[in-house]
Amino acid sequence: MKVAVLGAAGGIGQALSLLLKTQLPAGSELSLYDVAPVVPGVAVDLSHIPTDVTVKGYGADALGDALTGCDIVIIPAGMPRKPGMDRADLFAVNAGIIKTLAEGIVANCPKALVGVITNPVNGTVPIVAEVFKKAGTYEANRVFGVTTLDVIRSETFIAELKGLSTSDVKVPVIGGHSGTTILPLLSQVEGVEFTQAEIDALTPRIQNAGTEVVMAKAGGGSATLSMGAAAARFCMSLVKGLQGEDVIDYAYVEGNTGDATYFAQPVRLGKNGVEEYLPYGELSAYEENAKNEMLATLNADIKEGADFIA
Ligand code: NAI
Repeated sequence: MKVAVLGAAGGIGQALSLLLKTQLPAGSELSLYDVAPVVPGVAVDLSHIPTDVTVKGYGADALGDALTGCDIVIIPAGMPRKPGMDRADLFAVNAGIIKTLAEGIVANCPKALVGVITNPVNGTVPIVAEVFKKAGTYEANRVFGVTTLDVIRSETFIAELKGLSTSDVKVPVIGGHSGTTILPLLSQVEGVEFTQAEIDALTPRIQNAGTEVVMAKAGGGSATLSMGAAAARFCMSLVKGLQGEDVIDYAYVEGNTGDATYFAQPVRLGKNGVEEYLPYGELSAYEENAKNEMLATLNADIKEGADFIA
């Protein structure tokens, strides 16, 4: 298994790479790419951890070498938010970065499964898809926007609120990955009942949890450690799927819900990435209304991404 992290020297990239060094199956290769000159040092640092995973660092001029032969590529490269910015403000900077990295994937590992973390995910996933389409290498089942942070935040907040173990709480989160486009399906959390007041408080807290971190870091960036954990969890779902295990996870994909071209939904993972797009089930009236109200925003974000390449 060869896994590349593009943007590996950043806050998310380093946390993710540390977790992958300790979690990837024995014999795997971890390929760390970044334009920051510190990346070879990050690789040397990680290489001293005693696991049977080889780590190599690749600098700005070695994207091709970093990607050659990769089974999975995870992308946290790009600018994070500062107080006062929303995820959409990042588009101008990050769109070009994502385009370049997607072109690198086309040229060096067109069959890899690609997980996009770089914000705004609602628009960067369409950019990757459009670059692949232009090159004739697009397979919708291989391209994912990583929305796992919304899932783990939901699990944590609900476990805290209800005095449960986080391992007993499973929360479907659908839609997109910014503000109101993030839709946690609290009506589907098994074994837990919520009052309307709890739903009215929890839903926006989950949607704005990223801003909670941005404000607390006071100009020092956005979520990196929790995102590293979320990305590692999602990457390990992809790894298990490639190894033939039956895995169900949530991701922002070009799926089949009919709500928007790209939409986070449950998917069955396997040797080709998505093996089956699964329905998200019945929504409460509150959730149905929230979904209908956010679709215009999500569709505009998607169009912005697709238009950037067109
Ligand atoms: P950071 O600034 O700590 O790290 C970004 C890294 O990307 C830096 O090392 C930088 O050198 C590198 N980079 C920039 N241009 C590059 C290029 N062309 N090729 C390769 N590497 C390049 O930022 P952080 O906090 O790690 O965040 C990264 C991205 O992840 C941001 O866009 C942020 O908004 C996003 N994010 C996404 C989340 C999600 O749930 N999907 C959650 C939190 C952040």
